[in-house]
Amino acid sequence: MRAMRTRIAILASRGGSNLGAILAHLDALGAERHADVALVLSDREQAGALERARARAIAAAVIDPLDAAGLSARLEQAGVTLVVLAGYLKLIPAVVVRAFHGRMMNVHPALLPAFGGPGMYGQRIHRAVIDQGVRLTGVTVHFVDEQYDRGPIIAQWPVPVHEADTPDSLAARVLSVEHRILPRAVEAVAAGRISLGADGRVHGTLCPDDDDRAVILAPSPTTHT
Ligand code: GRF
Repeated sequence: MRAMRTRIAILASRGGSNLGAILAHLDALGAERHADVALVLSDREQAGALERARARAIAAAVIDPLDAAGLSARLEQAGVTLVVLAGYLKLIPAVVVRAFHGRMMNVHPALLPAFGGPGMYGQRIHRAVIDQGVRLTGVTVHFVDEQYDRGPIIAQWPVPVHEADTPDSLAARVLSVEHRILPRAVEAVAAGRISLGADGRVHGTLCPDDDDRAVILAPSPTTHT
């Protein structure tokens, strides 16, 4: 008898391309997937993520980011046990973060702890990366805790900064990597291959520990399930 699949809620403020990537990855895994997107929530009525959900007949709703009880009730009613912040720009009420300790994930378009924290979102990140002349940026997926963009790191993937990069060109290259690493991190957490230990450290990894090249040189994470 197949184990019950993890029911996931996705919170997104904008277009929802990360939601689309998660849905595509779970579709590709088919019967082998360990998760289903059961609910999509946004703080913005116009968010494209809500349209993407409705197109797939997935429950979708606008929430008041400050209404902790309302958010908790929606998550409980949908039987959600894993929350994924995929381009969600508001803080999650601390009581909800605590209730989902080790079961709430966020994707950040930089290599945290660098270029993270309050005010560091969207193009501001990529502008700062270019202005500071760093040669490598990337994507971080981490468990959410009560400090913005902090929390135990689940996975990171490098993105080189090109000399001719603008914030837009760099944002696009980073976003394409988000689309490859976030779905795999979500599936790995849903399947229990990656988890947050009682010691506060993350156990499990997306890439084989014994092959560092897998992190730096792989053309795409599709070489790793
Ligand atoms: C992107 O800037 C991405 O880097 C961040 O949220 C923004 C929108 O993502 N995670 P999406 O297209 O709504 O998934």
